[in-house]
Amino acid sequence: MNSMELPSYLDQADPVRERFDRLKQREIILEVKDLNKKFDTSQGQVTALKDINFKTHRREFVCVIGPSGCGKSTLIRTLAGLESPSSGEVLLDGKPVFEPGPDRGMVFQGYTLFPWLTVKKNVMFGLEMHGHSRATAEGEAMEWIELVGLSQFADSYPHQLSGGMKQRVAIARALANKPRILLMDEPFGALDAQTRGKMQANLLEIWRNIDITILFITHDLDEAIYLADRILVLKAHPGEVNELIEVSVPRPRTVEQFISAEFLATKQRLEELIHPPSEEDESLPMHMVRMAKVGDDVEPVE
Ligand SMILES: Nc1ncnc2c1ncn2[C@@H]1O[C@H](COP(=O)(O)OP(=O)(O)O)[C@@H](O)[C@H]1O
Ligand SMILES: [Mg+2]
Repeated sequence: MNSMELPSYLDQADPVRERFDRLKQREIILEVKDLNKKFDTSQGQVTALKDINFKTHRREFVCVIGPSGCGKSTLIRTLAGLESPSSGEVLLDGKPVFEPGPDRGMVFQGYTLFPWLTVKKNVMFGLEMHGHSRATAEGEAMEWIELVGLSQFADSYPHQLSGGMKQRVAIARALANKPRILLMDEPFGALDAQTRGKMQANLLEIWRNIDITILFITHDLDEAIYLADRILVLKAHPGEVNELIEVSVPRPRTVEQFISAEFLATKQRLEELIHPPSEEDESLPMHMVRMAKVGDDVEPVE
């Protein structure tokens, strides 16, 4: 099936369509306008992001995919206020972003917990820093720790936890500050497949139950389709928006859907966007290797 032959379910009035109509009526949390980012390096200027434009609605789950080096981390760091745009702007609730703030929670691929603090103290950290009393911070921290399923480990230290558990704490810590948006940069990229699947399901469960907008970076197509309402596809370097596609897979999502027609059609569309077929690939000659020396007793091939 090529992308011209859209499957019939995409044309029909269906619950997925209605979900998108409702989603678009919600307020805009994040708006990225004509964003460009260039880095000056010893080898000259590198364009990491080029004319990026998109909007994210309240409680939307947006995934960003694109090949390695296309500017995904630069984009999310700019949204977080860790990098400043070369031109253009990032608006959160209509206000320009200049620096990191508690309205944006971050979860990175690398583990970023304070190793000298327990799980509970790690989650309390931001709450106490923002002026909550110790008792309030502790109560709230325990609720978030319960939400990510780690109540039994509240007094453990990060080195006593598995990779997946550390990322659960990182999610609890980011959410405890009640951000408007959760920014996640390949948070499950270092986990084994089984743990990763559990983390994805847990994240979807959390997202369904609280008022949070999520922008999630991944280079795994299955992960993006399983999680997202819409997927922002970045072109290969320099990062430029290729397309923002709607994921027509119904919610709630289940692993059984990985082989559904909607899922596979979306995956094919993404593959076409990320790896457009080039004429060059098809015209590559096959390399013939002659295994026998000339003069050997080899039967001639007709
Ligand atoms: N601090 C920096 N200084 C110079 N170049 C950078 C810096 N950060 C990223 N880049 C360059 O910007 C491009 C995009 O990088 P990045 O955002 O990390 O991509 P991705 O996360 O998609 O793999 C790459 O060419 C990278 O080398
Ligand atoms: Mg990256």
